[in-house]
Amino acid sequence: MVNKKAQALLDLKRRMEGDKSLPLRDTATQLVFGEGNPDTDIYFLGEAPGYHEDKHGRPFVGQAGQLLNKLLEGNGLKREDVYISNIVRFRPPENRDPLPQEIEAFKKYIEEEISIVDPRIIVTLGRFSMNKFLPSFKISQVHGKVYPMKWQDQPRVIIPMYHPAAALRATAILDQLKQDFKVILKTLGEAKKTKTEQLPLI
Ligand code: URA
Repeated sequence: MVNKKAQALLDLKRRMEGDKSLPLRDTATQLVFGEGNPDTDIYFLGEAPGYHEDKHGRPFVGQAGQLLNKLLEGNGLKREDVYISNIVRFRPPENRDPLPQEIEAFKKYIEEEISIVDPRIIVTLGRFSMNKFLPSFKISQVHGKVYPMKWQDQPRVIIPMYHPAAALRATAILDQLKQDFKVILKTLGEAKKTKTEQLPLI
C-alpha cells in the first residue's frame, strides 16, 4: 500500500517527467527526483544532480552523497529516515552552476514537494538552495544557524549548511559541516513544538 504522501510524490514526479518546458532535460540523461521518507521531519535540499546522479536517477549518490550518508549516520540518522532532494532536477552540463532561470523553472515543483513532505526542518546544502529561503545571505556567515519561519503557512525551520562537495575540497569546511550537522537533531524537538503564530512571516 502506497501512502498518501508517497502517492502524491509519485504523481509529482510523473508530472515533472512529462513537463517538456523544463530546462536542461535535453542534455541530461534523466530526471533526478527527491527520495527518502515522505513522512520525515527533515528535508535536505541540495543543488543539482551531478554525473552519478544523472546516471542512476537518484540524488546524492556520488562522493558528496557518500559524505552526506556518513554525516547522517554520525548523527544517528539514516538516509531512509530523511528526505533528500535538489533545487534543480536535471544535471547541468559539465556540472556548471544552475542559472537563475533554471532554478525559477523548477520552483513550483520544489514547493509542491515541500508542501507534500511537510517537514519541520529544511536543511539547505549550498548557497543556491539557501538563497531560496534566505535571499542575499552569505553562507560563510550563517551556516549552522537556525532560522524559524512561516513557510507555505506552516512553521518550518531553515538550517543553511555548506554543500558536502565543498567539504570534500576543504578540511575547514568539512569540520564546520560536521559541527553544523549536530544542530539538526538538537533543533527538531523545539521545532515540533513551535506554533505558526510565533514565527516571522517571510
Ligand atoms: N550535488 C547536489 O547538489 N546534488 C546531488 O544530487 C549531487 C551532488
